[in-house]
Amino acid sequence: MCGIVGYIGDKQAAPILLDALERLEYRGYDSAGLAVRNDEGIATVVKAKGRLKILYEKVDGGRTLKGHIGIGHTRWATHGEPSEANAHPHISGSSSEDSLVVGVHNGIIENYVELKEKLVKNGYEFYSQTDTEVAVKLVDFYYSKFKSPTKALSKAMMRIRGSYSLAFLFKDHQEQIWTAKKDAPMIIGVTKDEAFIASDVPAILKYTQDIYQIGNCEMACVEAGNVHFYNIDEEEIVKDTEHITWDLDAAERGGYEHFMIKEIHEQPKALKDTYNSLVKDGSINLAKSGLTPDIIKGISEIRIVACGSAWHVGMVAKYVIEDMAKIAVQVDLASEFRYHCPVIKKDTLAIVISQSGETADSLAALREAKSKGVRTLAILNVLGSSISREADHVLYTLAGPEIAVATTKAYSAQMLICYLLSIEFAFVRSEIDSAKYQYYLQQLELLPSSVASILEDKERIQWFASKFSTIHDAFFIGRGIDYAIALEGSLKMKEVSYVHSEAYAAGELKHGTISLIEDGTLLIGILTQNRLFEKTVSNMVECKSRGAYLFAIAAAGHYNIEDIADFTIYMPNIDEHFIGSLAVIPLQLFGYYTSVIRGLDVDKPRNLAKSVTVE
Ligand code: M6R
Repeated sequence: MCGIVGYIGDKQAAPILLDALERLEYRGYDSAGLAVRNDEGIATVVKAKGRLKILYEKVDGGRTLKGHIGIGHTRWATHGEPSEANAHPHISGSSSEDSLVVGVHNGIIENYVELKEKLVKNGYEFYSQTDTEVAVKLVDFYYSKFKSPTKALSKAMMRIRGSYSLAFLFKDHQEQIWTAKKDAPMIIGVTKDEAFIASDVPAILKYTQDIYQIGNCEMACVEAGNVHFYNIDEEEIVKDTEHITWDLDAAERGGYEHFMIKEIHEQPKALKDTYNSLVKDGSINLAKSGLTPDIIKGISEIRIVACGSAWHVGMVAKYVIEDMAKIAVQVDLASEFRYHCPVIKKDTLAIVISQSGETADSLAALREAKSKGVRTLAILNVLGSSISREADHVLYTLAGPEIAVATTKAYSAQMLICYLLSIEFAFVRSEIDSAKYQYYLQQLELLPSSVASILEDKERIQWFASKFSTIHDAFFIGRGIDYAIALEGSLKMKEVSYVHSEAYAAGELKHGTISLIEDGTLLIGILTQNRLFEKTVSNMVECKSRGAYLFAIAAAGHYNIEDIADFTIYMPNIDEHFIGSLAVIPLQLFGYYTSVIRGLDVDKPRNLAKSVTVE
């Protein structure tokens, strides 16, 4: 939510900031702004409501803003509607030229009302509805008193409650960008004569693959070719860089019309890379995460917490782990977890699943689990993210940067890790023998090519999407794993195509929802589980007899489905525990093509942001 960038170096800052912001636009896109200081020391702020391209045009691609140092921001509104006044950067004085402090912010200042009252009493006036303006003026307040950026930032950090990554230009420190962070992402890259700050790696990948992570309640002073880190007590701390293996190609569209379709096509690679990172010489190796056989044997129960699609992965994992490893699994929405006072048994393993590793609710759920004294494991895609620093054990999906707001390849890679955990847990706890263990691994090795073969047939889905692009509602049903896949298919549909859709456990339809079925209603049935096939078919028939149009996604061999379904796609043969990873592919394509045909912004659907760092 919101993207921050900063540049200082020997080049013009504005074009670099705009380019970096473009790579972060997935984080927020309702307004954007830049602050650039020229060589005479005067800072200019330019802001625009709407997409980044409006700002881009306003500053003629950066050409009208001269200067070698600047900060930029792309916003996803929390406090205050999307408007030019509420857009960042915010200033501490009456104009950017006379402001001691100019700043941008990602996160939420929870106690901004109380802080604002204090500042108003001290003579500050406010022009926006944002919590960010409060943070900027608070820093100004302390800076005016102590004349030191570290003192001003540490004092402000002690007063602010909430989450933030902040970047500031101080009028008196013309060759520096200052940052501070708590529970919101911020990375720093330094090259010989330049330095960059950003909310996420793709923004600066072009310039460096070696990055510094700034920790919680830490600050940094960023100069051209140099960075100094400080803790909240203003003591200097030394940090090492981390090498990012993602390359720039991975963060660009590479000939595809949208990131979403590019990322859908990258799934075979994401699956292969993730598998190869954890399976060596025919056995699963979780050593990197520190999960030992003794720990696995001691687990009494698993609690999975996650949001959105990652929660859907948890739903699949529940079915697979319970069946294979015979460990009880509960799946909780991270946003609910800490509010229902969870009763967590000793020896529970809490698993947090998150692509970004920054989702505020998932981070809070992780902390809740830790506060109950249980072991935590995080399945993440972004190296060094907030969750990675707090979980006891971490496993990474090797999906590469995921830019489209709608997740596809990270979702698939997360599911693969859950399968591997399930197989390993089952084996270590003697629920399966080594022959079964090897069989499951061989089946998983089929996943990348099976996904690729479904993608080869994507034109059929495209055709189907064009036929149904004007629908108002869609219903997705399934049982067991198929229900978990229905949840994801329905989310993909609604989030990118704005078609109202619902997912139901097939048996639940007749407890209410079936009253919505009328002539022509689209019902998508997922039928990959042999023992549940006939039951779901019966539910589909019940809908057909009330006028529904049936789209079936079925396991190969169930050809009699064509007697009732109007449109069918068959999945390649694979073990039923893993077939959900195939069934989701046509559903991702269906959501994607429906959105394209409806002329929508597939990669940046309205009101959404890629990583949700607010509650
Ligand atoms: O970064 P996370 O995996 O924690 O994000 C969780 C959800 O916000 C995310 O899965 C969201 O539902 C997807 N963008 C949907 O496609």
